[in-house]
Amino acid sequence: MGSPRIGLVGAGRTRQGLGPFVARDLQAAGAEVVAFCTSRAETVAPTRALLASQGVACEGFSSLEALLAADLGLEALAILTPPGAHRQGLEAALERGLHALCEKPLSLGPAAEVEALAAAFGEQGLALLENCQWPCTLETAWAVLGRTPGAVPRTFAMGLTPEGRGRKLLEDALSHPLSLLQALHGARDGRAAELSLAAAGIRPWRAGYALECVVQGPHGRTEVEVLLDPAEVSPKPAWYALDGARVDRRIDPASYRMSLEGPERSLPLPDPLTQHIASVTATLAATLSGAAPPPSTGALVERAHLLAQLLATFDAGLP
Ligand SMILES: NC(=O)c1ccc[n+]([C@@H]2O[C@H](COP(=O)([O-])OP(=O)(O)OC[C@H]3O[C@@H](n4cnc5c(N)ncnc54)[C@H](OP(=O)(O)O)[C@@H]3O)[C@@H](O)[C@H]2O)c1
Repeated sequence: MGSPRIGLVGAGRTRQGLGPFVARDLQAAGAEVVAFCTSRAETVAPTRALLASQGVACEGFSSLEALLAADLGLEALAILTPPGAHRQGLEAALERGLHALCEKPLSLGPAAEVEALAAAFGEQGLALLENCQWPCTLETAWAVLGRTPGAVPRTFAMGLTPEGRGRKLLEDALSHPLSLLQALHGARDGRAAELSLAAAGIRPWRAGYALECVVQGPHGRTEVEVLLDPAEVSPKPAWYALDGARVDRRIDPASYRMSLEGPERSLPLPDPLTQHIASVTATLAATLSGAAPPPSTGALVERAHLLAQLLATFDAGLP
């Protein structure tokens, strides 16, 4: 299999962007990171330096148009910009016949918009993938908790520390619990888990929100609580609990190595972003070698519907 030739759209880090780390992981997985763009001339040099600090050396441009006009033989775009610019990147990929990896949330618009984009990628035989890496932590969590892999939990809780205020907190964070719930309910190889969501309620909690809902899938029902607290702490606390048994993600500040800590034991956690990007790269390489693109859009479209439903609950007003 060849090395997918990838262009990074929004490769730097103004707020929380993962550009440099995604670039590092793409390259480590065998992709060729050919070039990047930012949105301004003055950020090209600092972004180049940031990428170099992760061992990635490539050409830089000050706009998506300039990146595409350079005719670099790109095969895919990694769209790592803030959500408001995702659509522009996805449409450019479609126009040029490029595969796409897009940061979460793929869109903050109506779920029908994601459905239409996914259909357009599918019709052109192009892969469309979303950067939701938390499901890659499940194997370690099951081992830490001594649980049977794949069992649908009756309750699921997750605590995250997103940035911002108001609706932005939910926009920023909810793809993570939703992708975990899809995986726990049996979404495989990008296929939807066929979930429906009911009884969503959102109330103020600490400086953020607590969200409650019930998720029903073909293999069971899960009561869900998501706690979002925009605390100014680093590293940002993140945890989840399956049937009340909690694992906390720990990051060693010196080495950046991660672990998952449960009530009785802790295990090293392979970086979920690195794992997810390795699987994305393998998918792109296989698709470029002639395999059919994966049905990745099933889970992605389902996630967009669930996210839109939760955001509509927020918009309908807090109790
Ligand atoms: N998967 C995860 O765990 C995870 C974690 C954190 C963030 N994210 C996601 O990553 C995305 C970016 O995060 P953020 O909003 O915090 O990003 P950010 O750091 O504010 O921006 C990322 C980069 O995008 C560039 N950019 C902005 N608009 C652009 C455009 N129109 N064209 C080209 N480049 C552009 C910015 O560079 P210039 O200003 O220099 O152009 C910046 O360096 C979001 O979707 C977020 O949800 C995911």
